[in-house]
Amino acid sequence: MRILVTGGLGFIGSHVVRRLLQEPDVEVTNLDALTYAGNLANLADVAEDRRYRWHHASITDEEAVDRLLAQTHFDAVIHLAAESHVDRSIEGGVPFVKTNVAGTQILLEAARRYQVDRFLHVSTDEVYGSLGTDGLFSEESPLRPNSPYSASKAGSDLLALAAFRTYGQDVVVTRCSNNYGPFQFPEKLIPLFITNGLEGKPWPLYGDGKNVRDWLYVEDHAEALWLALVRGKAGEVYNIGGKNERSNRDVADTLLNIMGLGADTVVLVPDRLGHDQRYAIDPSKAERELGFRPKHHWDDALARTVDWYRQNTHWWQAIKSGEYLEFYHRHYRSLGARPDEP
Ligand code: NAD
Ligand code: TYD
Repeated sequence: MRILVTGGLGFIGSHVVRRLLQEPDVEVTNLDALTYAGNLANLADVAEDRRYRWHHASITDEEAVDRLLAQTHFDAVIHLAAESHVDRSIEGGVPFVKTNVAGTQILLEAARRYQVDRFLHVSTDEVYGSLGTDGLFSEESPLRPNSPYSASKAGSDLLALAAFRTYGQDVVVTRCSNNYGPFQFPEKLIPLFITNGLEGKPWPLYGDGKNVRDWLYVEDHAEALWLALVRGKAGEVYNIGGKNERSNRDVADTLLNIMGLGADTVVLVPDRLGHDQRYAIDPSKAERELGFRPKHHWDDALARTVDWYRQNTHWWQAIKSGEYLEFYHRHYRSLGARPDEP
């Protein structure tokens, strides 16, 4: 099976590529623009694999996408490429609309033109908006995105589902909760706190730290995507999550404990604008119809994630410089924090 993965040089995409290559009859082409969030080091271990190749182009480049799909027939597309960070989308949403909305439509149209059998669109629980203290997101929950990031992802989901309804294109949509694990870009909560901890820097906790996320280990997400690809029904949405709700304060406390750091590491900073209070996924449809079961447990997988960042300092130190450092200082200063002072 020939699979086109988009965004394979990013965090989740790199785990998906590695998971796909475990299937003996799968060949992977990775379409990735290598933005600030992409990193060749994320797939250095498979770079020489003859069943893997990287194609350097943007999903927003209609001609490049058309040429690629005209040259090679793909059996499936797994679409992960996106601008993915909420805080960056609050600074400016245009790149989010271009990549997440226009890029998705360009890919959908090319996949239709060249008769790709299946299009797996990888989305997020953030499209459902925010929950109060009770309830879970089901596939029937209304889409009520609150950030430019989640609004652009919701737009891309609707385009994917419209392609199914209008043209009968074989499209499957997945919506997953927050991921954690190796190779996650250190602008996101867990790798930011781990790497700041290793550098002796403070942990900026937004607001009162009571916001809740439903955390899933990235390899469990990659497995769910494989299952959705081979077992999912066209036109269907599948929510993916690990029934693992934690407040941000709880995540910080667990990490302090694993890393042997003091409570004064955590510094409360003013809240993110429009900060969603709680995300929580009901994954029963994916369990029932795809046979999805997360294999990794939070305490264990989080401790192994900390170990990975400890052992791969060269990976994140190379990232935490240049463009990233500029974003980091600008962003946390704008919240009134002093990001350099431990
Ligand atoms: P990431 O930011 O780590 O990686 C994104 C990748 O896409 C990078 O390799 C980047 O170079 C590439 N890319 C960006 N714009 C591109 C473009 N125009 N053309 C081609 N490539 C481009 O993102 P991630 O955290 O791995 O998320 C991957 C997908 O999963 C996204 O669609 C995201 O919405 C979704 N998702 C993420 C999470 C999470 O917790 N991280 C949870 C649920 C869903
Ligand atoms: P993040 O990793 O950005 O993922 P998302 O916003 O997509 O859920 O943030 C996870 C949670 O952690 C979210 O509630 C915001 C919070 N957060 C902080 O408290 N401090 C930080 O420096 C960051 C980046 C996030």
